Order: sequence, then structure tokens, then C-alpha cells
Amino acid sequence: MRSQAVKGTHDILPDEQPAWRQLAEAAAVEFGRAGARQLTTPVFEYSEVFEKSVGASADLVVQKEMYSFEDRGGRRLTLRPEFTAGVLRAFIEHGMHTLPTPVKLWSAGPLFRAENVQRGRYRQFHQLNLEIIGLSQALADAEAVQLLYAILRRCGLARVHMRVGSVGDPEDRAAYNAYLRQALEPHQAELSETSRERLRLNPMRVLDSKAEQDQALLAGLKRPVDFLGEAARAHLDEVTGHLRDWQVPFEIDPGIVRGLDYYRRTAFEAHAQGIGAQSALGGGGRYDGLIENLGGPPLPGVGWALGSERVLDAMAQERAVHADEPRPLLFLVPLDEPAVAEVARMAVRLRRGRHVEHAYVRRNPGKGLRDADRSGAVFAGLRGDTERSRGVLQLKRLATGEQTEVAEDELARFLDEHA
Ligand code: HAM
Repeated sequence: MRSQAVKGTHDILPDEQPAWRQLAEAAAVEFGRAGARQLTTPVFEYSEVFEKSVGASADLVVQKEMYSFEDRGGRRLTLRPEFTAGVLRAFIEHGMHTLPTPVKLWSAGPLFRAENVQRGRYRQFHQLNLEIIGLSQALADAEAVQLLYAILRRCGLARVHMRVGSVGDPEDRAAYNAYLRQALEPHQAELSETSRERLRLNPMRVLDSKAEQDQALLAGLKRPVDFLGEAARAHLDEVTGHLRDWQVPFEIDPGIVRGLDYYRRTAFEAHAQGIGAQSALGGGGRYDGLIENLGGPPLPGVGWALGSERVLDAMAQERAVHADEPRPLLFLVPLDEPAVAEVARMAVRLRRGRHVEHAYVRRNPGKGLRDADRSGAVFAGLRGDTERSRGVLQLKRLATGEQTEVAEDELARFLDEHA
């Protein structure tokens, strides 16, 4: 047996949980205030759900990044590589189009992509995801961007910058792709291997390459925003107008492209410095047409996902993690054998409303106080023969060393008053 987590997966240790909670709480507050409701979908779906949504040429499919398998009934299943497809599948299946518009759904949990592992890129990772369904107005795109920014700010991140752009309507994209093909095909030999493949399947994605030789070739070329039709151009202007109005800082990224193919018009990303090459904390965009593709009504939608691991990395870089592991109010120390069961009984009773821990074996006072210190408790409570005969406990406030004798039946009241 190999006692090792699978490459690209990781344990989230107890010490790391407060930061995760800080992120979850920041998101829950902002989602809740904006009227988004939580949806939990299964970790796997029929493979078709993802194949239909992420598009034939998306990286996930092309680079075989999906974890797909056949179950014992011969069904083709896939561990979700993203939330959007499953969320929309559930939206359609439960007839949520009858709900008041827009329907705002948020989700959280693990995702799976068979990627090349590096800092910020894992095979099991986590996202917080938002979908706003039913509105074609730019107002929805702007609200999506604003919410992503608000959550990152609430996490304590000050050095986040938002990039907003547009991949255009399908005909704009087609025109841009044709342009890029024409411009780059004569230079195929100079492109990186990934970009050569992208040029064949989805030329726009070449823009995303980090390879120097690719960027050199792209330097003089036009960007997707240069190919926007009138409608897509006006839509982008409206989105940015709202963002300015709401004082959400952003920059226009004329060359924004995303790894998934379902985007139309608005595309956006949040970036942070200092977390390595994978600096995108989150991203998303508009995906009109996707719900219909998945067999639902022709409803528009816009959404995003943030990568929890990357946000936590940025929070650590900016020293923005404030949440602490909760500390016990009282740590009980049994000084003789009969006291072991007594302190356990007291702990069970006192835990109705308080955090109380205890030693499980008899301790001498010195060791017992050391245990109490290590637990981070506010008070240590010592119980031995003398205390039993008088029906009391010796309470010691660990920060000051101040000691008080408290009667057993006064204990709860004393703790509540002196905490
Ligand atoms: P995505 O850009 O593929 O979009 O992922 C969103 C975020 O998830 C990324 O910006 C990154 O922070 C994080 N992420 C992606 N892959 C990994 C990985 N292998 N390891 C760690 N973090 C990762 C989507 O998933 C879309 N479904 C977002 C969306 C929702 N669009 C509309 N609605």
C-alpha cells in the first residue's frame, strides 16, 4: 500500500480549515445578500452533459482532461470538471425556468481535471460557482463581475484586479478565428505544439499561450474586441458602464479568451499577483445558447467560478487569513482515577453551549496544566481528592495564573460570567 495522496490531490488539514471557512463565509454572505441560492449537484454526471456543454474543442476534451469511466451498468460517467454543466442540467431537470427571473444559483465543492500539475493547478481542486440565469441584459454580467470582486475583497484581498472583455457573438468569433488562422497558418512551424493544436480546433485559444515564441507571433495581431459586431460592442460598453458606476475597478482586456468554449460576448477574470503563473483566481462569462444545447428552454445565462486553492494562496500571500481555530473555554484535568469519569461527565454537561475539553487519564497538576495550555483553553479546571470532598474545582485562568475555587454547581454560571 502506498500511504500517499494521489498526485494533484491534497488533504486539507485541520490547521488549514479556518482559512477555508473564512472563504466559505465571505462567499455565503455576498451570495446571500444578492439573493443567490445554493444548489448542490452530484460529483459525477453522464459524460454527455459535459461533452455537450464544454464544446468539442475545449481544452477539457481536447487535452483529455476529463476523468471519465464506465460504471458496472455500462453507463458513461464523468467526474465533474466544472460546475456550469451540472448546474444547468439540474436547472432544466427541476423546471427552474418557472421561477422568477433571474434565477441565481451558487455551488461549492470539488472538481476534477487530469491536468499537468503545478502551483495553482491540481487534479482535484475546489470552486465556488455562481450562475445567473434568464437575463440577457448587461446588468446581469456586471452583477456577476461585481459579486466576484466583492467576495474576493471580503476575503481580505486588496491586490485583485478584474479583467473584462468580450469574445463576441458567434459570428464575431468565427470572423476572428478565420483571421487568426490566416495570420498564423503560414507560421505554424514556429508555434508551440499546444498552439498548433489550438490553431486547428479553436484558434482564439492561441492568445492564452504563455510560450514566448507564440506571443512573439501574436504581438502585431488584432484581438477579439477588434472584431466585435455592433451588438456585442454595445453590450460590452454597457457592462463596463455599470462597473464604473458601481466603482468596481477593472481593466478592459482586449484579448481575453477562456478555456471553455461556451462563452458568448462578456468574458472576465480576476487575477492576483504573487501566486505564480496560474494567477487567475476566477473567471467566467456569458453563455447564451448553452441551456438550449443541453435540452432546456432558450434562456440566456452568465456566471463564474473562483478557484478556492488559488484564492487561499493569495490570501496567505497577502496575510489576509484572520480566522482562528476555536479555543476551548475550559480544559478539565482529573488528578486521580475517580476524577476521570467526573470531569468527562462535567464536560458533557457544560458543552451545552460551551467549548470544553478534558484529559482522558489521570494527570499530575504540572502535566495537566501543560495539556490545558496546549489546548489553548482560557481556563484549566483541576479536580482531585480535596476538590471532591468539598464539591469544588480549582479553576486557573491560564493567561494570568489567577486561581479561584468554584463550586461544581456554580461552574456553568462562573464560566459564562468570566469568559
Ligand atoms: P474555469 O476558468 O475553467 O471556468 O475555472 C474557474 C477557476 O477555477 C479558474 O480561474 C481557477 O482559479 C480555478 N481552476 C481551474 N482549473 C483548476 C485546477 N486544475 N486547479 C486549481 N484551480 C483551478 C469554469 O470552470 C467555468 N465553469 C466558470 C463559469 C461558471 N462560467 C460560467 N459559469
